[in-house]
Amino acid sequence: MYINFWYPMATAEELADKPLKVRALGQDFVVFRDSEGKAQCLANVCTHRGGSLAGGKIKGDCIECPYHGWQFDGRGQCQRIPSLGKGGKIPARTRVDAYPVEEKYGLVFAFLGDLPEGERPPVMEVGEWGKEGWRPTLQHYQIKGNYERSIENGLDPAHNEFVHDTHGFGGEDDEYKVNDLRIETTPPWGQGFWHTFNAPPLPGQFKEGRKEAGTMDVGTGHHGPNMVWTFIHPSPELWFHQYLFERPIDDENIQLYLLCMRSSFLDAKHDAYMIERNQYVANQDVVIIQDLQPVLTPDTNTREFMVPADKVILMYREKLREWDAQGWRIDTAKVEATRKRVAYAIPSPGRREHKGWVLDEIPRIEPGEQAASDKLQAAS
Ligand code: FES
Ligand SMILES: [Fe+2]
Repeated sequence: MYINFWYPMATAEELADKPLKVRALGQDFVVFRDSEGKAQCLANVCTHRGGSLAGGKIKGDCIECPYHGWQFDGRGQCQRIPSLGKGGKIPARTRVDAYPVEEKYGLVFAFLGDLPEGERPPVMEVGEWGKEGWRPTLQHYQIKGNYERSIENGLDPAHNEFVHDTHGFGGEDDEYKVNDLRIETTPPWGQGFWHTFNAPPLPGQFKEGRKEAGTMDVGTGHHGPNMVWTFIHPSPELWFHQYLFERPIDDENIQLYLLCMRSSFLDAKHDAYMIERNQYVANQDVVIIQDLQPVLTPDTNTREFMVPADKVILMYREKLREWDAQGWRIDTAKVEATRKRVAYAIPSPGRREHKGWVLDEIPRIEPGEQAASDKLQAAS
């Protein structure tokens, strides 16, 4: 799991007048709306004695810790320590980490890292959002599995024929093969491909959108470690452009948000069917992803046998190595080994401006250094 990317923390709708406790990258965060309705995200651990801020109340622009009533604003500054009495001086070191928040596409994203604004990778762009001729649906669900496995599943052209009866023939197509992938790079945060394959007609409410079996174009790619776009073109008029935003809850559980833009059947009466159809397809992937072994991708590619259809998965893994080299990968083995004694914080941009923080930064794998778990594996 990586610091320094945007993660979807909630839907805009879920974030109402109560604080939410949201787990991401194996850590807890509190997400709340201030008095102007602006979404804020803080590390959830109170710097006093470790109270869970999300269990407290929103007071004006602050979240109030349920334990002794300390109040923190959206910048993470402690504004009130009741036990000091009125006018008591608040020490600067009491601040908690505060994360940049962007609310777009019906989602609340937090930037979980310390990069200054100009260096942050952007949220994956949804080009069709708000455009005439497109209709969105948004759905979210939690699954068991590692998010990198899930992203790789999105980048995998060869599973469609076998996993999805919506876009394949269940392995019964004698002529089946993965045709050449037309690689599309969208540097520096992602890459993907387009390919053409045989697919059946569409069933149900969308059957007028594709009446015959035949070739179909699909493009897919990743953006950062945790986002995937998939463009499905069943016919010249009917396009589905899907955007999957994933939040690793930890390295074995994922919260997924699927935004699907469609170019036909724009009436709202088709939304429920669209959502049901997407969930049907997503659940077919879940069955596979939750049982993959090992849970995490192996630390070398030689522990799996890759073929040409896996090219973009290999490219994704290379990209992850680039982010390892930045020192952005969390050392989960170390976090796990010390978890009962140490509450860590994902470093926020404020750490580049101020010295003196109560919580330690979460350990990361030094560039060039193997994870502790990898070392164990190598030694065995
Ligand atoms: S633990 Fe939060 S105010 Fe004491
Ligand atoms: Fe799939």
